[in-house]
Amino acid sequence: MSYFDTARQKQQALAKAGHAVILSIETSCDETAAAVVRDGREVLSNVVYTQIPLHRRFGGVVPELASRNHVDQIGVVVEQALSDAGRSLDSIDAIAVTCGPGLVGALLVGVSFAKGLALSHELPLVGTNHILGHIAANYLTFPDLEPPFTCLIASGGHSHIVRVAEYDRCELLGKTRDDAAGEAFDKVARVLGLPYPGGPELEKLAASGDPKAICFHSAFNEGDGFDMSFSGLKTAVINTLHTAEQKGEPVNRADVAASFQYAVNTILSDKAVRAANGTLALAGGVSANRNLRGMLQRKADRKGIRFCCPDFRYCTDNAAMIGSAGFYLLMRGHISDLDLNATPYLPIC
Ligand code: KG4
Ligand code: ZN
Repeated sequence: MSYFDTARQKQQALAKAGHAVILSIETSCDETAAAVVRDGREVLSNVVYTQIPLHRRFGGVVPELASRNHVDQIGVVVEQALSDAGRSLDSIDAIAVTCGPGLVGALLVGVSFAKGLALSHELPLVGTNHILGHIAANYLTFPDLEPPFTCLIASGGHSHIVRVAEYDRCELLGKTRDDAAGEAFDKVARVLGLPYPGGPELEKLAASGDPKAICFHSAFNEGDGFDMSFSGLKTAVINTLHTAEQKGEPVNRADVAASFQYAVNTILSDKAVRAANGTLALAGGVSANRNLRGMLQRKADRKGIRFCCPDFRYCTDNAAMIGSAGFYLLMRGHISDLDLNATPYLPIC
């Protein structure tokens, strides 16, 4: 029997039983991560090796360095995830791997490694969308959360508002027209002289600033639609800093950080809460921002909406979220053959 026929038989048996222990792998950007997750909800292990110190001196992720470092680390990280879970590959039911979106060279490391494991152990392989993974971080945190719900995804590469119709199906309600929210945080942090990744650093600096000190206005975001734009805000910050520099006036960097953070988070939270009814979830790296979590919680409370956001350890890139999303794909029959490829611009809907 071919690899795929065997994998399909195993998938069907797992779907019938409704149970699976998944080894998941995530290498879409600058984290090499592996996890073991039971039934999409229970994390048995979660190992994240971050490359941040490697990229910091360049002020951002250098794709070629990221790929090479994934190659160096992936074996160790996967072994650690299995050992932390007290399992060998013989007691794993399926392999889930991020196949896009992300950096193509980085994704290929995880995809190739996962294919090798799947073939050698005749295990079903589940190519998993990274963004679907970020959404699933909420399933790990809220055992009772099930689709349908509305989700705001704000990461380094994406800012989307979607309706999660089913575990394997989203409907796009709105998206950024230019920079992603995390990307805007990173770029503004950079002009403020903060190290990469800028989002968490900017949040720290903003804590001692006044969010109402400067009004960073953005006309595009005032409409009724759910699309967003952040590059205008970024330019407004840069102009404020340059003008002050040219005039020789001092700038309160904490005020700039707090005002920018307030502007971005107001746009994200206003639109997401307006799009939601019933339940609103938050996902993606920017979900670690406490100011955004607080704003969403307050606005959701006012509208009588349930608000969910992931536990901090599942906000930024990790493999546990891929194991959760992969479980639901597996249960619905979405398995991949060995021609699974990395897709840098894989859409979510
Ligand atoms: O989801 P993620 O780990 O990677 C992508 O899929 O892009 O998101 C990383 C992004 C970066 O832009 C980072 O600056 C941002 O999330 N981020 C934050 C915070 N923590 C991470 N942005 C604002 N506040 C934070 N606390
Ligand atoms: Zn991510």
